[in-house]
Amino acid sequence: VWSNVQAGPPDAILGITEAFKADKDPRKINLGVGAYRDENGKPYILPSVQKAEEIVLASVPNKEYLPITGLPEFTRNAALLAYGTESTPLKEGAVAVTQSISGTGALRIGGEFLARHYPKSKDIFLPAPTWGNHIPLFRDSGLNVRSYRYFNKETVGLDFAGLKADLEAAPEGAIVLLHACAHNPTGIDPTPEQWAQISDIVKEKKLFPFFDMAYQGFASGSTTKDAFAVRHFVEQGHQVALSQSFAKNMGLYGERVGAFSVTTADAAEKARVDSQLKIIIRPMYSNPPVNGARIANAILSNADLYTQWESEVKGMADRIISMREKLYNSLQKELNTPGEWGHIKSQIGMFSFTGLNPSQTKALAEKAHVYMTHDGRISMAGLNGGNIEYFAQSVDKAVRG
Ligand code: LMR
Repeated sequence: VWSNVQAGPPDAILGITEAFKADKDPRKINLGVGAYRDENGKPYILPSVQKAEEIVLASVPNKEYLPITGLPEFTRNAALLAYGTESTPLKEGAVAVTQSISGTGALRIGGEFLARHYPKSKDIFLPAPTWGNHIPLFRDSGLNVRSYRYFNKETVGLDFAGLKADLEAAPEGAIVLLHACAHNPTGIDPTPEQWAQISDIVKEKKLFPFFDMAYQGFASGSTTKDAFAVRHFVEQGHQVALSQSFAKNMGLYGERVGAFSVTTADAAEKARVDSQLKIIIRPMYSNPPVNGARIANAILSNADLYTQWESEVKGMADRIISMREKLYNSLQKELNTPGEWGHIKSQIGMFSFTGLNPSQTKALAEKAHVYMTHDGRISMAGLNGGNIEYFAQSVDKAVRG
C-alpha cells in the first residue's frame, strides 16, 4: 500500500544530528543543531531550572489536563517577559496568548490563525535566509511564502537597503516575519535605529508584523534588551503576533515550552481571538504538556530564581562570545586562513554564518567529522576549549582545499 511513497530528504538541521550520531570518530563535533553545550561539550541543565523543577516536584502536582491554551500563570508570565510590565495592551487585557509546543508550535498556531482569520493577505514575507523550518511550516499553514532581502554576502552583514526596498514593494497588508533577536542563521540583527525604520515602513505599508523570538537573552545577555524590537513595535501602535520559545534561554528543549500571542484592540476582541485559538489547537493536540510550563513558570514567578536565571542566560551568552573571540584569533591571526573572519566576532546569538560553502561543509563532515548545516551555519555553542583548535585547523584545511 505504501509502494508509491517516495523517500524524502533528511531534515536540513535535525538530519545533521543523525549523521553525527552515526559517526564513530572520537574527534567528531556537532555544530548543526542550535542547542547549548557547556565547556565540556555536554548539554547544560541550568541550575535555576534544576531548582525550579525541585520546587515543582515538592508541590506534588497532579497530572490533570491543562486547559486548551495551557497553564494560565505561565502564559501570563511569558507575555510579561516579552512585552514588559509597562505594555499597554497587556495592561488593558488585550493580549491573546496560548501556551504552545515550543517555538515551532507557536509559529504553526500563528500560521494557522493568520491563514484563517487575517483578512488582508495570505502572503508572508520571510527574510532570506531564514530558519529552514519557517518555509514548510508557513506553507503547510496555508500561507504563500515569499521573501525579503536580509543578508549581504559581500559585507557579510545586513542588506538593509535590500530589506527596506523589498518591504516597501510588498503588497499592502502582507504579513512580514521578523526575527526579534539573534537572527537564525546569520547572527546579524538590525540596530535599534534600523528597527525604528522597519517599524515605519511596516506602518506605512500596513504590513502585519509577526515576530519570532526564539532566543530572548541570547543576543545581548539581557532579556530586556533582546525584547527591544517587539516592545518598540507595540509602543508604536502596531498590532503584532509573537512566537516565544523557552528551549534555548531556559534549556528546556525537550520539554517543548513556548507561547503564541497576538495583541488585539481590546478585551472583547481578545476573548474572540482566544476562542479561535482554542478551535485551532483542540483538533491538533488537544492541550499542551504540563511539566515544562510549570518549570518555566516557577522561574518567571519567583524573583530570586528569575535573577539567577538571567545571570545564567548571560553566562551562556558570554561563553559563546568567548568562543567567537578564540575562533577568530585562530583563523585570522594564528592560521592566517584565507579570507576575512571578522564576522565571527561581530555576529551575535547562538550561530555564526561562517561563509563556508556547501562543498567545504561536505568536506568538513567527510574528512574531519565536523558537522554543520550546508549553508555554513555553525552553532557556536558546540565549540569549547577542548575542540576549538581542531575545528579551526579543519576549517583552515577545508578553505585551502
Ligand atoms: C536550530 O535552528 O538549530 C534550532 O532552532 C533547532 C531546530 O529545531 O531547528
